Amino acid sequence: MAQTNDTDQFKKVLSHAKEYGYVFQSSEIYDGLQAVYDYGQNGAELKKNIREYWWQAMTQLNQDIVGIDAAIFMHPTTWKASGHVDAFNDPLIDNKDSKKRYRADVLVEDYCEKQRLKAEKEVEKAAKRFGESFDADMYRQTNERVMGYLKAAKEPVERLARLLEAEDLAGVKALIEELEIADPDTGSKNWTDVRQFNLMFGTKLGASADTATDLYLRPETAQGIFVNFLNVQKSGRMKIPFGIAQTGKAFRNEIVARQFIFRQREFEQMEMQYFVKPGTELEWFKIWKERRMAWHRALGMDASNYRFHDHEKLAHYANAATDIEFNFPFGFKELEGIHSRTDFDLKAHEEYSGKKLQFFDHETNSSYVPYVLETSIGLDRMFLAIFSNALQDETLEDGSERTVLKLPVALAPVKAAILPLLKKDGLPEIANEIIEELKWSMKVQYDEKDAIGRRYRRQDANGTPFCVTIDHDTKEDHAVTVRDRDTMTQERVAIKDLKNYLEERVSMTVLLKKISK
Ligand code: GAP
Repeated sequence: MAQTNDTDQFKKVLSHAKEYGYVFQSSEIYDGLQAVYDYGQNGAELKKNIREYWWQAMTQLNQDIVGIDAAIFMHPTTWKASGHVDAFNDPLIDNKDSKKRYRADVLVEDYCEKQRLKAEKEVEKAAKRFGESFDADMYRQTNERVMGYLKAAKEPVERLARLLEAEDLAGVKALIEELEIADPDTGSKNWTDVRQFNLMFGTKLGASADTATDLYLRPETAQGIFVNFLNVQKSGRMKIPFGIAQTGKAFRNEIVARQFIFRQREFEQMEMQYFVKPGTELEWFKIWKERRMAWHRALGMDASNYRFHDHEKLAHYANAATDIEFNFPFGFKELEGIHSRTDFDLKAHEEYSGKKLQFFDHETNSSYVPYVLETSIGLDRMFLAIFSNALQDETLEDGSERTVLKLPVALAPVKAAILPLLKKDGLPEIANEIIEELKWSMKVQYDEKDAIGRRYRRQDANGTPFCVTIDHDTKEDHAVTVRDRDTMTQERVAIKDLKNYLEERVSMTVLLKKISK
């Protein structure tokens, strides 16, 4: 593979996403809207397939999980109860020279990540020097320089957690100054004080100014699940433990709007709340950590791309929390959160609504407020993880180069391109017959323009896992050539077997079955 650094790779991801109809800047003709994106013809398909993979894994593979679709608008008291009105804040800091605004905690975290990368560079260098007998872990624990970097990567985030916990914003500013953190764009260290900033978007319900009610666009989908806990439990006769899953839009007025679709102001979440008996939540926390990682790993991306990051600072309502971090082109960042949220949310909604939100246990003849395990993943972040990992430049045996988007096959927008070798001699007609048969079970695309080699390259870059070529022999042997995107190997397949051949490789079922392995 051609060598690229992380910034180059990220630039490539952005331009490829646009060029191939995956992601566009929102309202681009008006110069766009910051941190808001549109998904194009391929992006919408990929996103739908990721959502479907998550939804089926949750609600179809588990008898004890059901899905709902709650409204984006919710009664405003919901957000008082959930704590979002009072505490859904980010600490922000402005640079007086550049006039740019940053999240104070992100500045410290980025500083720490840089120290960690320095440590890893040292380890890599040593590995090259010492060869096969090199023990990387031992080196991390004994080499002074590496130990220094690792300490510098760990201590500031721990101090930051303590300062935020104590709401000591002056202390956060002092930490930024002590670490000599500069504005990433300009290098200036001339900072304002740190202030808290609420991330919810407000809006109004109703026509006239005096009677209109203040509403919020939901900042997470989870609350739609909590307020429907009893509706679902009763109507579905669900027994504890059981889960409620939901996917949908969420909105946050993010201060730091960068890194493409990683951090947006309008995004989509896929969340599942699993209601358990109090006292069993830590066992379930462990189980859901494993289950979620298995879901990720089934996609075939290398294990080294993932790591768990246990929270140093637990929210006051949580008794365990971890993030699944992914190695994005700009480093390891949070992809998914798994939280043991105790009975905080249901109890708060009981208090604010005056309605009981409890489970009646027929075995013990008593009621209790269940504890909750939450798994929460951003669909757009998952999209970026998959897309950036899939985009590769390859140098082929003959020295030529190709750009290929090695998307997990079941998630690819188009499963097969149907390519008549020529635009004549009855070949397009056969191609159309094949499309008529395949279109009922998968998305396929007809392409007759350009030489076949160019069409292959176009489909490689588009992420299409299979190309089906109809040539003159097809008229004699009723077979087609199927080319595999990743291996570029070709196989002759009888037209009558083509549907099964492709289904066995591209169906969601094949992917879902990999989860348990
Ligand atoms: N209900 C829990 C919750 O919302 P969170 O950690 O704030 O927890 C969960 O968000 C996930 O949602 C994150 O792990 C991330 O994948 C995604 N997410 C959060 N903010 C986002 C944003 N501004 N843009 C894109 N995805 C975001």
